[in-house]
Amino acid sequence: MNYPLMSDNITREDVNTLISFLQQDPIPQFTNGPKVKQFEDEWGKWLGTKNNIMVGSGSMANELSLLALKFLHPDGGEILVSPLGWVSDFAAILHAGFTPVFCDINLKNLSINVHDVRRKITSKTKALLLVHILGYNGLSDDVINICQTHNITLIEDCCESHGATFKGQKVGTFGSISNFSFFYAHHLCSLAEGGMICTNDENLFNLFRCFRSHGMVRECPDQRFKDLILKQNPELNPDFIFLEASHNGRSQEVNAVVALNQLKSLDANNAIRSDNLLYFWIRITLYVRIIYYIF
Ligand SMILES: Cc1ncc(COP(=O)(O)O)c(C=O)c1O
Repeated sequence: MNYPLMSDNITREDVNTLISFLQQDPIPQFTNGPKVKQFEDEWGKWLGTKNNIMVGSGSMANELSLLALKFLHPDGGEILVSPLGWVSDFAAILHAGFTPVFCDINLKNLSINVHDVRRKITSKTKALLLVHILGYNGLSDDVINICQTHNITLIEDCCESHGATFKGQKVGTFGSISNFSFFYAHHLCSLAEGGMICTNDENLFNLFRCFRSHGMVRECPDQRFKDLILKQNPELNPDFIFLEASHNGRSQEVNAVVALNQLKSLDANNAIRSDNLLYFWIRITLYVRIIYYIF
């Protein structure tokens, strides 16, 4: 028996939708346009978050999340994180100039161990980067309470857990910021690469919109925020004010076209995943019991 670590879940219908998009006349816009906006809106409806910013990958979502946090905490500080995550979680912390502080993992959900979180909080702690692992929810009341009590920003990395829930509510809606990946190994694939940053915080939304496009203030949707920055820099051309040394994290339209189509079957695909888990879980626990009784 050979189960590959990942296989492509792009369907013929996804490809046909993409072909129709490409065959449009006049030729459509290819970067960060109406399809990206439509997918951001649909994603927000599916997840339950107000502001959703599509980016080129889950790693870029990690990167811009930590960059925004650094903007709010220019003196840096410590970020609590479990060592079981993806390399981009730790890279983003380091790139933004924070210090990662590793907490042990929780063996039940493979996320972070709340007792170790309690032990490692200091006056320098700025955020808890909680990674939901392999489709599981990693949250608990304790984790949420600790973040609230100590005024620590909760960032949820949901790149592997689209649709997982805590108390019936989807993960990615609890933290101030959440990140998703649409790489082809994950629950929803936006052709090949893709990601999303989600937040209900308007201030963070403004920052993410700028940071997604090199840090350019003109990308910010909030006129008041824009006016404030322009007022502080009257000598600069308003079209070329860069709030921060950021990246080009924009998504292409083709990724959004495929993601929109994939979103239609996300819940059904997740149900199949849960059934598969149950199938293996029942058999594995049964075999373990039989072996236990025999020996
Ligand atoms: C937990 C986690 N975070 C971030 C990422 C990065 O996502 P991407 O591959 O879209 O850059 C991954 C990718 O697998 C991941 O598993």
